[in-house]
Amino acid sequence: MTTLQDCRARDAADPLRALRDLFTIPAGVIYLDGNSLGVMPAAAPARIAAAVREEWGTQLIRAWNASGWFDLPQRLGDRLARLVGAQPGELVCTDSTSVNLFKVLSAALKIAAEDAPQRRLVVSERSNFPTDLYIAEGLCRERGYRLQLVDAPEQIAALLPETAVLMLTHVNYRTGAMHDMAAMSAAAHAAGALAVWDLAHSAGAVPVDLNGGGADFAVGCGYKYLNGGPGAPAFVWVHPRHAQRFWQPLSGWWGHAAPFAFTPDYQPAPGIARYLCGTQPILSLTGLECGLDTVLAAEPLGGMAALRAKSLALTDLFIALVEERCAGHGLELVTPRAHAQRGSQVCLSRSEGAYAIVQALIARGVIGDYRAGDAQMPDILRFGFTPLYLGFEDVWNAVEHLCEVLASEEWRRSEFNAKHAVT
Ligand SMILES: Cc1ncc(COP(=O)(O)O)c(C=O)c1O
Repeated sequence: MTTLQDCRARDAADPLRALRDLFTIPAGVIYLDGNSLGVMPAAAPARIAAAVREEWGTQLIRAWNASGWFDLPQRLGDRLARLVGAQPGELVCTDSTSVNLFKVLSAALKIAAEDAPQRRLVVSERSNFPTDLYIAEGLCRERGYRLQLVDAPEQIAALLPETAVLMLTHVNYRTGAMHDMAAMSAAAHAAGALAVWDLAHSAGAVPVDLNGGGADFAVGCGYKYLNGGPGAPAFVWVHPRHAQRFWQPLSGWWGHAAPFAFTPDYQPAPGIARYLCGTQPILSLTGLECGLDTVLAAEPLGGMAALRAKSLALTDLFIALVEERCAGHGLELVTPRAHAQRGSQVCLSRSEGAYAIVQALIARGVIGDYRAGDAQMPDILRFGFTPLYLGFEDVWNAVEHLCEVLASEEWRRSEFNAKHAVT
């Protein structure tokens, strides 16, 4: 039986503990939603204010050169590359995950159309994040492909001989289940298909090896585990074997080989820079830079391997405490117990009151979120664990609040049952 004292002792012995000071966490808040919007880096307000006052305010247009605004997407991309098993020059930070997915899926379909024109399927999971499915649906309609969704990963193998592109999200947004990227990419390649990965819940959360894992294309999110701020620019990675092969269809001037030559014809920039489109949001990229600094600050302490070890320890503890202390309250564990199949979040389902329970927890300062269920699964209470700023005592206290909300049935109060626009 774990005790509060055990949790305190684990915090005292945690080599990553000091990283918490890199963040501004409001008093009284236990933040279990870093898988949706990461906590603000403490350095962000001053750094963004300096970009506004000194760079924009004083340097004005000269800042594109003087403050290195022009190549910020590449410079941040080179730093982020270290977290996802990519090399410098293979990744840029830009646009949203949805827009970047459009670019890479377009390029993948173009390759497939040349190399394997008889293949007409894009395969994904019905449980994938909706924007991925919507983007794929739109492109499939336009290019004459069929989007085939499976209910279980085991159904993918039978479709691969007809598949042009296998498009998967590495860690599922609702369940926290994680794919074996290397095995799935190898299976796609062995059958002649390409593998496109969404790393929205992976970058900064779990170790990723894009080159070693055989991925063809990847996109991911800047505002979740990378702590880049609301709507932070996302990222896009293309394997070097594909990077020179095609333009992506959003062939704006920032992806041109010489944007300031202002030629009327388009010449794609070499490599990943052709995946840029238009003028970049410098203040948002500045916020993302602060977020990347927080994750990269773990490098001298063991980097992603150390973050992963702590993340698994936190999620193991949460699962054990929920099962010990909240037994009999109708909570079911949805996230896989096996470490190799678990991202950095824990999801619990409940047939009644999931939304209201989350609202009652938020009122107590324990911030998680809710995702609606479907035919396969009841509604979900979703808890993200960011090891950079969460401790073991936080986990103890969060479970304590969850037990109290359930035991007292405080979640039945009407204010916790009124649905907000954003859940
Ligand atoms: C797997 C996945 N992809 C994409 C997104 C969001 O994409 P965008 O930033 O374009 O809204 C999310 C958001 O939660 C997500 O979970």
